[in-house]
Amino acid sequence: MSHPILTIVGARPNFMKAAPVHRAFEARGVAHHIIHTGQHYDDAMSKVFFDDLGMPKPAVYMGVGSGSHAVQTANVMIGLEKVFLEHQPRMVNVVGDVNSTMAAALVATKLHIPVAHIEAGLRSRDWDMPEEINRVVTDSISDLLLTPSPDGDENLLAEGKPRDAIVCVGNVMIDTLFMQLARAKTIDMPGKLGVTPGEYAVLTMHRPSNVDDPVVFGRILSALLDVSEKLPLVFPVHPRTRKRMEEFEIGKRFERAPNIRLVDPLGYLEFLSLTSRAKLVLTDSGGLQEETTALGIPCLTLRENTERPITVDEGTNIVVGTDDARIREEAAKVLAGQGKAGRTPALWDGKAAERIVDAVLAFLERRGR
Ligand code: UD1
Repeated sequence: MSHPILTIVGARPNFMKAAPVHRAFEARGVAHHIIHTGQHYDDAMSKVFFDDLGMPKPAVYMGVGSGSHAVQTANVMIGLEKVFLEHQPRMVNVVGDVNSTMAAALVATKLHIPVAHIEAGLRSRDWDMPEEINRVVTDSISDLLLTPSPDGDENLLAEGKPRDAIVCVGNVMIDTLFMQLARAKTIDMPGKLGVTPGEYAVLTMHRPSNVDDPVVFGRILSALLDVSEKLPLVFPVHPRTRKRMEEFEIGKRFERAPNIRLVDPLGYLEFLSLTSRAKLVLTDSGGLQEETTALGIPCLTLRENTERPITVDEGTNIVVGTDDARIREEAAKVLAGQGKAGRTPALWDGKAAERIVDAVLAFLERRGR
């Protein structure tokens, strides 16, 4: 069968999940191509990850760029329909929960191409998050649901998905983390940024609900200004957040604070060099909640909920919300040496991509494709 399998990527958190999948398909001699929608397009948000992770150039780069949700989703759909008609894939893999993920699943399904969703089943139950809509829509039309942890299976079963469509493959992003950790440690990012290993916190923040609302953004930044007096803070700033900091007064204060180092978005290896030696991570990212659990580093999640509850039940994560008093209180505990300990969940073992390939090939065999 000469029809390829395609994996669709679009935004930063997709790349580290697609890299091991591509490698595993290649190792089995299966024709597999990466298609990049171009949802993220700056070198610092995209190309650096392909370089750091040794990924091949995408077979197609669509260049859809930024836009409102409707515009971005529609442009991905229009572009992908042409790509799928031309490549006639026997399967399309979609990854995570970004707009490109949902758009790709919709286009493939309507062309009767089977879809595998990598990172299926996660639910925040927060409909204000565009990612929650993307997850639910994607899962509802995907043929093969590949979950990172058993809570994903439970959510899908509760929504009526058939048991035989669900395979718990583990966390593929952690494949990349384990594979790259030794290389990342050869880079001295703390030294380059003038902080001492084990004596700084890393902050990332880009959720619209946190950074687009001046009241919420201001409350979080004010708590973090206090935290920075006791623990230097390194803050790689996402483009969305950078815009807001320039607009809001508290953002300017944050930029001038003596113990806060603002830097441009970092590459995968530079960022891992930094997080793997941090005392504390504060974030509203989904992936970083998982990476800190795998690294055993305390994480305070600046959101009211998480779609990754296993990082709380088993890992180092505490969901602190956006209340400034709570942020100060939990950060103080970490500073007092009472940060949360945890363990790495089952199947976060560096072999998820192998299990993904097994599940996809078994599915295709069952379907005779
Ligand atoms: C997207 C994902 C989010 C993910 C995040 C990781 C959706 C709905 N959201 O959010 O789940 O956590 O990526 O980064 O898919 N921009 C640039 N350069 C780029 C990309 C974006 O400057 O390469 C700026 C643009 O001004 C753009 C804004 O960032 O309007 C937001 O980008 P967008 O892709 O719409 O959403 P993210 O906030 O990045």
